[in-house]
Amino acid sequence: MSQQLIFTNDVASAIDSIHSAVNPASTFVLVDSNTISFVLPRLKSQSAAVASASIIEVQAGDVHKSLDSLASIWKRLGDMGATRRSMLINLGGGMVTDMGAFAASTFKRGITFVNVPTTLLGAVDASVGGKTGINFNGLKNEVGVFREAEAVIISTTFFGTLSHTELLSGYAEMLKHGLISSPAVFNSLLATDVADIDPDHMLSLLRESVQVKRDVVDSDPTEQGPRKALNLGHTAGHAFESLAMKRNSPVPHGYAVAWGLVVELILSGMILKFPSSLISQFAAYVYANYRAMPITCDDYPALLDLMRHDKKNATAASINFTLLRAIGDVCIDSTASDEQISQALDIYRDLMHL
Ligand code: GLY
Repeated sequence: MSQQLIFTNDVASAIDSIHSAVNPASTFVLVDSNTISFVLPRLKSQSAAVASASIIEVQAGDVHKSLDSLASIWKRLGDMGATRRSMLINLGGGMVTDMGAFAASTFKRGITFVNVPTTLLGAVDASVGGKTGINFNGLKNEVGVFREAEAVIISTTFFGTLSHTELLSGYAEMLKHGLISSPAVFNSLLATDVADIDPDHMLSLLRESVQVKRDVVDSDPTEQGPRKALNLGHTAGHAFESLAMKRNSPVPHGYAVAWGLVVELILSGMILKFPSSLISQFAAYVYANYRAMPITCDDYPALLDLMRHDKKNATAASINFTLLRAIGDVCIDSTASDEQISQALDIYRDLMHL
């Protein structure tokens, strides 16, 4: 991986030092309607590079990770004289870093960009690893390229404005990283109370967690095989997320991932003998922090259908999962039958008090 990952609570100095090293012809900062009010003013007063940059604003929210917003970024870059030697600094959550990275990767065939994630979910997942893109034609992340940022500046200083729900949502991806890496990482996450974590401890957990993702991405940058480890929890998780959307009662992505991890650990126990004591321990942690996606057996056909049509399973005759033999022992391209998945959902309901 060529991108620099910088862990710091002095974001302004980190931006200025990368900016000096790259020495771009002109600089742009992409913000959304949240970060323009809550983050940009402070950074402008602390960072010479940000103070002198031109600002491009898009509306906040995943629904605006769209072709229209992308075109507006390209247009603003062009109208304000950006060249191939310009730099774009993406300041925001996953929506801003995904779309800004894609805009930078395609404008003039690619300009330098730096990601400054302002949410935990963005810091631990979206901003790292080179996936860029927009939603298109009703499908999430349908159009994009793999291209890494010059640098990702990871900090906990912006998390003060995040709700407990947003923190928990990001923490679910950290739990996933714990499960695919080692008992030590997993146990330190389970021993932490997300409601009462100090910024320095969070930064050290983030460093450990992002390193897990970095190692996986380095082994397979374009997701030909081993990177599928990062899909743990996501086949069932996306199905929960889509079902909640259909019910007009959307759930945060990370909550769906946390519930999906429970289902997929249960499947790991059934298919690969993942230890049942760890399944119970993990389910109890998830229930205590995330409660449960309310489902009954009447929802199983819809959930199975959604899992079958998740884009990562499009070619599979049976449903494809990333499962675990043990913590850190990942088995990609595992398959489960409808009966096994239904049985896992029964056990999920049992463990989650439904
Ligand atoms: N979010 C999973 C990945 O980056 O591959």
